[in-house]
Amino acid sequence: MKLGVCYYPEHWPETIWADDARRMAEAGLSQVRIGEFAWSRIESEPGRFDWGWLDRAIDTLHAAGLEVILGTPTATPPKWLVDTMPDMVAIDAQGRPRGFGSRRHYCFSHLGYRAEAVRITRAVAERYGQHPAVVAWQTDNEYGCHDTVLSFSAAALAGFRRWLADRYTTIAALNAAWGNVFWSMEYRSFDEVDLPNLTVTEANPAHWLAFRRYSSDQVVAFNRAQVAVLRELSPGRDVVHNYMGFFTEFDHHAVAADLDVVGWDSYPLGFLDTFRFSPADKLAYARQGHPDIAAFHHDLYRGCTPTGRWSVLEQQPGPVNWSRHNPAPLPGMVRLWTLEAMAHGAELVSYFRWRQFPQAQEQHHAGLLRPDNEPAPGLAEARQAADDIAALGAVGAAPRQVALVFAYDADWITDIQPQGAGLSALWAAFDCYSALRRMGLSIDIVPPTTSLEGYALVVLPCLPVVPPALVEQLRTFPGQVVIGPRSGSRDVDFAIPPELPPGPLQALFPGKVVRVESLPPGLVHPGQGWEISHWREDLESSSQVELSADDGTPALFKHGNLRYLTAWPEPDLAREVLGRAAEDAGLILHALPEGLRLRRAGQRIYAFNYAAQPAKLPDTVTGTLRLGGRHLPPAGVAVLEE
Ligand code: GAL
Repeated sequence: MKLGVCYYPEHWPETIWADDARRMAEAGLSQVRIGEFAWSRIESEPGRFDWGWLDRAIDTLHAAGLEVILGTPTATPPKWLVDTMPDMVAIDAQGRPRGFGSRRHYCFSHLGYRAEAVRITRAVAERYGQHPAVVAWQTDNEYGCHDTVLSFSAAALAGFRRWLADRYTTIAALNAAWGNVFWSMEYRSFDEVDLPNLTVTEANPAHWLAFRRYSSDQVVAFNRAQVAVLRELSPGRDVVHNYMGFFTEFDHHAVAADLDVVGWDSYPLGFLDTFRFSPADKLAYARQGHPDIAAFHHDLYRGCTPTGRWSVLEQQPGPVNWSRHNPAPLPGMVRLWTLEAMAHGAELVSYFRWRQFPQAQEQHHAGLLRPDNEPAPGLAEARQAADDIAALGAVGAAPRQVALVFAYDADWITDIQPQGAGLSALWAAFDCYSALRRMGLSIDIVPPTTSLEGYALVVLPCLPVVPPALVEQLRTFPGQVVIGPRSGSRDVDFAIPPELPPGPLQALFPGKVVRVESLPPGLVHPGQGWEISHWREDLESSSQVELSADDGTPALFKHGNLRYLTAWPEPDLAREVLGRAAEDAGLILHALPEGLRLRRAGQRIYAFNYAAQPAKLPDTVTGTLRLGGRHLPPAGVAVLEE
């Protein structure tokens, strides 16, 4: 695995670039990611290009032996462009244009802007497509960041109507598929369909789902247009994009189909503080990040391309600036995060950013260097990680243990019609993932179309739309299968299937969900060390009840190698259910102390201590130590070889 850094030469005097490059190489960094926000410096007026500074910046990095990942600057269209094309900006759900003065102020549906994005991509790729330093291209930056996938613009409306006409052919078919007879919502032509915002109460969920699918398709098309130019002008270089954490607004599997390497931006402390973790976890892991945040995304994004190639394109190197609270990492965590990415098979970890910038929006965001050019604590940890990586050598392939099936439309469906506050397919997936990782298992998060061959256990935490091909695969799958609530509960147009949930899975599992209920906080059915909470289904089934709450309410049904879970997979219940299935699957489970996590790859077991106190490896973890010891300090890493 290589180490790299995100660098903005345009922020610094040219006189220090060579020294920066030298210090990067000395720190053990070999790739530098540049250019993704530099449009106003590349083309300061329409058609007036200034390549001189970028030529010199790339040449300076190259001269120091560094490789370059060059970003297309399309996340930051300059002011002159917005002024010449004012309707290119996204429109929010309240109908307000999104202003200039930060970034990502464009609408994915605007074909004029898409053409501009292709034009600037072509200009940059013509200039640097064959440059020996340029080894990869990054398209744009963090599609969807700052809530920018959905736009309620005139361009989106026109595009949506065309998309609907393509998909449904006749308006009668659309009316029937959406159930528009309900509340007299029937249309006479595609031109009558509006976007689903600004309705009196919620719009038809089928309308929303179609708009989510349409909007996701625009991200795919926007990205694809740039990729085509890069492939033409810079063949043989990788094309990457940097995905975000806990973000599902577009179909990442579909965008990844056009990429060589899926990148993502790992900010474990920011994510812990921002997202739905318990107050206890937010405190216990304030300086480390919850132990499963980074790993979950490593395993999710590795599953996005058939080749499994992925990278961390931005790694938090110290405190960030954008969450409500922004603590500094525990000493050792920057190294730990880096080595955990390696254990999951990353090709690159690139720290964001080289030097903290004393102006504009991210003044308090740490870099590897302080604004006064002195080393920040992250720099020494990056150096340490580089030495560890060199000492450890190549990482072997991970065994196929657990496949956790996730689809982006699952999260759209649970978001559009949650039925119970806060219950989303993404978080069901995360809680199941976390439960499995606490047992020391290695997990692949895969789309429903992936081959399940070789896995011991398959988990569908919450998969409302079950494609027929998945049913066929499961029919002959010899391992254990766990099916979570709401699976098979909708067709592609958001209707409950005529045979009732779990819909097509009834071909494999003899059960029918006849009623669902969501449970407010505190309304629970306690079991032995777990509880039924949040969500419950009444399942009519001839299968065996395997697990019931103390009051007799069933939670888990079993039929052959299939289990159906009729309650929300809250962490304790997920652990109970997945533990049973993993044992039946013949997997070796480890009882790990709080905060300790394992990753198996090749002949090695990598251990990471996310706890703020020391942790000891359980006796079930065996092998010769290659790094660290069996007693891991806080932020400690150990590697054992069998
Ligand atoms: C990312 C983004 C970077 C920078 C960083 C700060 O979301 O891609 O450009 O803003 O966050 O943490």
